[in-house]
Amino acid sequence: MTAPIVDVQNLSVIFGDFFAVRDVSFRVAPGEIFGFLGANGAGKTTTIRVLCGLLPGSRGRVIIDGAEFVAGRENIIKQKVGYMSQRFTLYDGLSVKENFDFAASLRGLGRAEYLANRGRLLNFIGFDEDLNTVVKDLPGGIKQEVALCVSLLHDPKIIFLDEPTAGVAPVARNRFWRLIKDLAAAGKTVFVTTHYMDEAENCNRIALMRAGELIAVDTPAALKRATFGDSLYNFTPRGNVRMLAPAPDMEICEPYGRHWHVKFKDGVNATAALRRYKSDFDIEKIQPSLEDVFIRLVEGQNR
Ligand SMILES: Nc1ncnc2c1ncn2[C@@H]1O[C@H](COP(=O)(O)OP(=O)(O)O)[C@@H](O)[C@H]1O
Ligand SMILES: [Mg+2]
Repeated sequence: MTAPIVDVQNLSVIFGDFFAVRDVSFRVAPGEIFGFLGANGAGKTTTIRVLCGLLPGSRGRVIIDGAEFVAGRENIIKQKVGYMSQRFTLYDGLSVKENFDFAASLRGLGRAEYLANRGRLLNFIGFDEDLNTVVKDLPGGIKQEVALCVSLLHDPKIIFLDEPTAGVAPVARNRFWRLIKDLAAAGKTVFVTTHYMDEAENCNRIALMRAGELIAVDTPAALKRATFGDSLYNFTPRGNVRMLAPAPDMEICEPYGRHWHVKFKDGVNATAALRRYKSDFDIEKIQPSLEDVFIRLVEGQNR
């Protein structure tokens, strides 16, 4: 990798005696869209808060664009990053303009720079509402786009987006991802968490977290290859058959609508095993989706 813009080395975050993040290391290249996936409580938000200079790590090192996170010097990091938090994005009772004004004053932006950046960002999202619209009156998708602009107002190199599309309608989610791709194309580094696996396919690389630990970091294609090889089958019931019951030689037997995705355990002769089902199911070998990868790596361990 060329010089990483985010370099995390053996980071742990400990609350009392609980490891919210345990010995996590990874690097992100400039201009990458880096996805962070994991079940609720996996440690994604905690990691992001450290990378944004909001929370000191308990152990390990964090280097952002060449600057090491050192207690008391968080402001150096805060200048370099933008953060769109999972819970709070904008003040609902204030207008769009007031939210921008407030962010500009927090960031200490001069008036000319503020107005130029605001204009450029509103143009970027194609904002055509009145700037005096109160935020709570904006459609959900537009509100998230405005929140993105506010977090970019000081023109940071890296933007952290924590579940930016949670609860947003599909069309608006697609629009938001168009913006993410445009930002990356313009050289910004985008660090994003999501629960939507179709969105995760848009990331250059994905990090999977489980219970505070990083269990895989790779491109979507490589994660699929490494997790499944070419051993995933789609079962579709035929005739009067309605159900596929999990068998002891199956590692995965996961319902998907009217279908089941099946992976046999390592060492099982799949050709022989499939014969049992030929009369009741249409069976085809399929390419795994990220959903399959996620279920195998993240959820499979908890059963
Ligand atoms: N300030 C805190 N004090 C104690 N525990 C915390 C604190 N912040 C987060 N946690 C715990 O750390 C774990 C990881 O949380 P979080 O990073 O929010 O996960 P995620 O964003 O992946 O859902 C959770 O079990 C959460 O309850
Ligand atoms: Mg979170």
